[in-house]
Amino acid sequence: MLFDKLTRLLGDALRPKPEYITVTPVTDSQPAPVLPPPEALPRHVAIIMDGNGRWATSRGLPRSAGHAAGTEALRDIIRASDDWGIGALSLYAFSTENWSRSKEEVAALMGLLLKYFSSEIDELDEKNVKITILGDVDGMPEPQRQALLSAMERTGDNTGLRLNIALNYGGRAELTRAARLLARAAKDGEIEPDDIDEDAFAAKLYTAGLPDVDLLIRTSGEMRTSNFLPWQLAYAEMVFDDCFWPDFDRTHYMKCLAIYAGRDRRFGGVKGQTPSTTA
Ligand code: IPE
Ligand code: IPE
Ligand code: MG
Repeated sequence: MLFDKLTRLLGDALRPKPEYITVTPVTDSQPAPVLPPPEALPRHVAIIMDGNGRWATSRGLPRSAGHAAGTEALRDIIRASDDWGIGALSLYAFSTENWSRSKEEVAALMGLLLKYFSSEIDELDEKNVKITILGDVDGMPEPQRQALLSAMERTGDNTGLRLNIALNYGGRAELTRAARLLARAAKDGEIEPDDIDEDAFAAKLYTAGLPDVDLLIRTSGEMRTSNFLPWQLAYAEMVFDDCFWPDFDRTHYMKCLAIYAGRDRRFGGVKGQTPSTTA
């Protein structure tokens, strides 16, 4: 019995891993990363900053301590994006589903949000960063709503890094909102229903005017998108890092960018072939 089990386990371990698995987990055994050249960098990076709670729990700390530590990580990843010339960075900070957490945890997150904006806004503005909030700002508590609107207004004319922070954001809610806006425009005679194409739809999303996401990074080992940017991620490359968000630093970020730069993006085509049509 034991022998059979051991043989089976050994067989499993030695069997070559299928090559169609394209998810590349980031591991410490990989060589030190090098920042890819500018032309190989993604134009738009999206990050699902996950694992704050587990980071704290594994240290015997309250979950709110994980969120505070996560804010520190966030600060440097934004700076790195600016230093490295990433055009747009979209960060998932609070989903519509996150309201289902305890009152204490939601209050801690809302408190951190206010603290973050008051301590960072001067530096971000100085660095010419343009802040856009993705999500339903009007559904946020009043002090947070004010802080978000004023950050967007203050940085509205900036021309540097496009920093999108998803707050009270749900991907399906974003899509239904776009459909509603288009339906209203059609009802008011501003557009013809037949004129609604992909560009017209994209123009009604919170990310209007920005390129699609090229690279999605999610920390904490979870491999799902959790209702984040369903439209914009349609052709994104995905990189999953096992570390919890508070441990995600420039080295991890650079590794993710290097993995992205090594990917072969085909968009449905075949290299070397002349397209039969221009779709
Ligand atoms: C991500 O960390 C931050 C938010 C969702 C606000 P989590 O709080 O989800 O941490 P885990 O996944 O429970 O460890
Ligand atoms: C996604 O993380 C939302 C944010 C990072 C803000 P969650 O921790 O809420 O997602 P699930 O519950 O694992 O899908
Ligand atoms: Mg989580």
